[in-house]
Amino acid sequence: MSGNVKGVEWYYAACLEKTMKKTVLRLEKVKKHYRMGTTVVKALDGVSVEVTSGESVAVMGPSGSGKSTLLHILGCLDRPTSGDMFLDGMKVSDLGEDELAAVRNKKIGFVFQFFFLVPTLTVLENVELPMMFAGADAETQKERAIELLKRVGLGDRLHHKPSELSGGQRQRVAIARALANHPAILLADEPTGNLDSKSGSEILGVFDELNEEGMTLITVTHDASLVSHANRVLHIKDGRIEKEERAHTKKKKEQ
Ligand SMILES: Nc1ncnc2c1ncn2[C@@H]1O[C@H](COP(=O)(O)OP(=O)(O)OP(=O)(O)O)[C@@H](O)[C@H]1O
Ligand SMILES: [Mg+2]
Repeated sequence: MSGNVKGVEWYYAACLEKTMKKTVLRLEKVKKHYRMGTTVVKALDGVSVEVTSGESVAVMGPSGSGKSTLLHILGCLDRPTSGDMFLDGMKVSDLGEDELAAVRNKKIGFVFQFFFLVPTLTVLENVELPMMFAGADAETQKERAIELLKRVGLGDRLHHKPSELSGGQRQRVAIARALANHPAILLADEPTGNLDSKSGSEILGVFDELNEEGMTLITVTHDASLVSHANRVLHIKDGRIEKEERAHTKKKKEQ
């Protein structure tokens, strides 16, 4: 009898574990202050937040409120002045430069408003680059880069240079590059901010698909259509989270 009860308990614990989302990013009382002469700019002023796996979080707020600073800290591109940051339970705020770069390259993909592709490299080479830094062999780099570029609809543009692409196509290359090392988290700073609405909705479609496959997404945006696809919206003001909204149902991609 007791064996049966144990079995049932184990079964429910296993089911719970499967449905439970785990915390992938956590900030605890994070501040980022810049000293400018005699004044201190408080870009972030005590932000505590948790992001669970598979969430799609939108970050909104006025210009200068600290959105990019927050994203850069979450993406290990910058360090807090004080407070702690945990990635998959590991305290990253204490890591040295090299360790931080290695963690970033493996776990996080970053998409920027202005793409930041290398202009002298082809589309294919741009996507191969992070895999080269991660030490993948040439064949793996090429196969994965082609697979990702096909996935974002650019299988027929492999040997173009970024200057030979439209804005939306450039951003899709940037997304493929961000996905190169199989990151669990994708961070995007105004990814549609520099695009027309058609290209913007293409990018939105790619993000939606990735999130449906389980990718954790955090997107800084002013774009209302992007916000409606998020599970959660963080409103930032003066370096603090002023308000947090949770969507009960996330808008699905239009078929
Ligand atoms: N390197 C820096 N040195 C000094 N101040 C900085 C630095 N980087 C950002 N700041 C300041 O920190 C504040 C937050 O900047 P941040 O770039 O995070 O804003 P944002 O919300 O992304 O704005 P936007 O919507 O215009 O992109 C701003 O007041 C900015 O001037
Ligand atoms: Mg910004």
